[in-house]
Amino acid sequence: MAAKPRIAIVGAGNLGSALARALHGASYPISEIVYRNAGSPQRARRLAAEVGSAAVRLSQARVVADVVWLCVPDSNLALCARQLTKAADWRGKIALHPSGALPSDELQPLRRCGAAVAAAHPLMTFVRHSSRSLAGVPFAIEGDSPAVRAARRMVRDVGAEAFSIRPRDKALYHAWGAFASPLLIALLATAERVAMAAGVRSPAAARKRMLPILEQTLRNYGAFGSADAFSGPLVRGDVATVRRHLQALGKLPRARAAYIALAQSALATLPVRHRHELEEALKSISPSSRRARQDSILSKM
Ligand SMILES: NC(=O)c1ccc[n+]([C@@H]2O[C@H](COP(=O)([O-])OP(=O)(O)OC[C@H]3O[C@@H](n4cnc5c(N)ncnc54)[C@H](OP(=O)(O)O)[C@@H]3O)[C@@H](O)[C@H]2O)c1
Repeated sequence: MAAKPRIAIVGAGNLGSALARALHGASYPISEIVYRNAGSPQRARRLAAEVGSAAVRLSQARVVADVVWLCVPDSNLALCARQLTKAADWRGKIALHPSGALPSDELQPLRRCGAAVAAAHPLMTFVRHSSRSLAGVPFAIEGDSPAVRAARRMVRDVGAEAFSIRPRDKALYHAWGAFASPLLIALLATAERVAMAAGVRSPAAARKRMLPILEQTLRNYGAFGSADAFSGPLVRGDVATVRRHLQALGKLPRARAAYIALAQSALATLPVRHRHELEEALKSISPSSRRARQDSILSKM
């Protein structure tokens, strides 16, 4: 493929939109934006207008694109691939999906129709109200050779970086990505709850006050690595302070459980002082399980 191939995007969601904009910006013709039969066409129409394309309903799609990206939720991917089999003569076409957890084999229905298939997953977060360019984003790629070559070329053309992944490693690879963004957000949402229990007015106020320490932490992590970016009572071996945290977190059992899980992980992977005493403090029974145990003893009396 010397000239730039025509692209179809199936699913005008968070990733599909970012991908369509990036490929359009890199002068790839976007021939169609396909939306699902039961879905609303509004977002697909807006995106199509932005990237000089046409929005088409899946059941009516006659895909002319050379490369089709299926940007749908993982749970709909196999069904979507089956639904698309009749939308084109797939011989010589390329079908790609951006799932980090699923292998390219998920596109087997299209491979059976003659398409070369691959998975190309951007290790990046895309949410509705942020428009993230793909520049510098690492893409994990695996699949049939012609599809891998096409994916690598598109990745390079949008300023991103391709690397190979083995299909059998994808679930763990994606779990790694989960730690880097969605679970990090889950941790920050938990931190907001703790802030409010400590008298901070609202999650928004907690977020505003946390941002400077969060940003500095990420800068330190990027510059020095995890061990040298690690501060606080664990690295200092301040066992009494950890006990105080655990005591105070008794009224927020989920936050306490998250604290203990992360602190135990830190003891296994990061430099800490008084490791043994800290292990003992973290093992000590939580107020809620102590109450449950007391209740069970009382019920047997
Ligand atoms: N968002 C990220 O940060 C990110 C990062 C890396 C990889 N990915 C991957 O990108 C893919 C899409 O994720 P997303 O976050 O962009 O999801 P999303 O924002 O929920 O968008 C999914 C889109 O697919 C459409 N859709 C659902 N089922 C369909 C079907 N059967 N046929 C056609 N269209 C269908 C949805 O339409 P409706 O709106 O009508 O439901 C929606 O437009 C997933 O494989 C995900 O793993 C996402």
